[in-house]
Amino acid sequence: MTENYSSVAIDPYYDGVPAYMTEVYDWAYVNPKWVRALDRIWVVRVLLFLNDQRLMRAYLDEIEEGMRVWQLAHVYGDLVTRVAKKVGAQGIFHLTDVTPIQIEHGHRKLAGMEWTKVIRSDAADFVGEASIDYDLICSFFLLHEIPDEKKYEIVDNMLEKLPKGSKVVFVDYHNPAKWQPIRYVLKLVNRYLEPFADALWKNEIRHYASRADQFVWRKRTFFGGVYQCVVVEHKD
Ligand SMILES: C[S@@+](CC[C@H](N)C(=O)[O-])C[C@H]1O[C@@H](n2cnc3c(N)ncnc32)[C@H](O)[C@@H]1O
Repeated sequence: MTENYSSVAIDPYYDGVPAYMTEVYDWAYVNPKWVRALDRIWVVRVLLFLNDQRLMRAYLDEIEEGMRVWQLAHVYGDLVTRVAKKVGAQGIFHLTDVTPIQIEHGHRKLAGMEWTKVIRSDAADFVGEASIDYDLICSFFLLHEIPDEKKYEIVDNMLEKLPKGSKVVFVDYHNPAKWQPIRYVLKLVNRYLEPFADALWKNEIRHYASRADQFVWRKRTFFGGVYQCVVVEHKD
């Protein structure tokens, strides 16, 4: 008796990529052709309504030379190189991402900086290295793109990895003020393009932490409440 096996070759750029990424964000973050076109500073500037510099500064200002930093996901433009340079050769910068093409872009941007590492991992499962205690862990515009059940896993993983004296920084969308006209633009964007983003209008980020009470949560908002930066530290 003969058996026929047919094998379907998996495109390496899609191998192991979570379903929500291919179903919702294929053109934005998975398909290499689009990613190559979109990975530009001006794209980030337009998407953030010209608030890119101050939002990046909210994160960069928390970094000091020599720090050990874990950033959960790649970001288009020059943010990752700026973080790596600010940390400097005395520090450590670990960049994770879940899609192969973003890992490729991270490698290209951080080439030659030996204190950096680009690691393919889902932020919810990232284990890290036993010998490294991070001083700062950052999620920059990641949470609003994550299905709600995974938001809990990611926030908990970040806080589990947070040593006493270190900080977690979230920069992301927020519930805009009613007077802010961008609110109504983003309502449409969320309805048609960003199905997981509305949750950050309804819930504070601390809502996704199972042990929220054990931490101090400091929130600042920007641009009429469109964006937030939340810095989290252990209570004494
Ligand atoms: C940081 S977010 C959005 C950033 C911003 N909109 C920009 O301009 O790039 C996009 C990144 O998150 C990554 N990503 C999505 N889900 C992830 C997960 N569960 N773990 C790690 N990275 C993830 C995507 O592959 C993508 O590179």
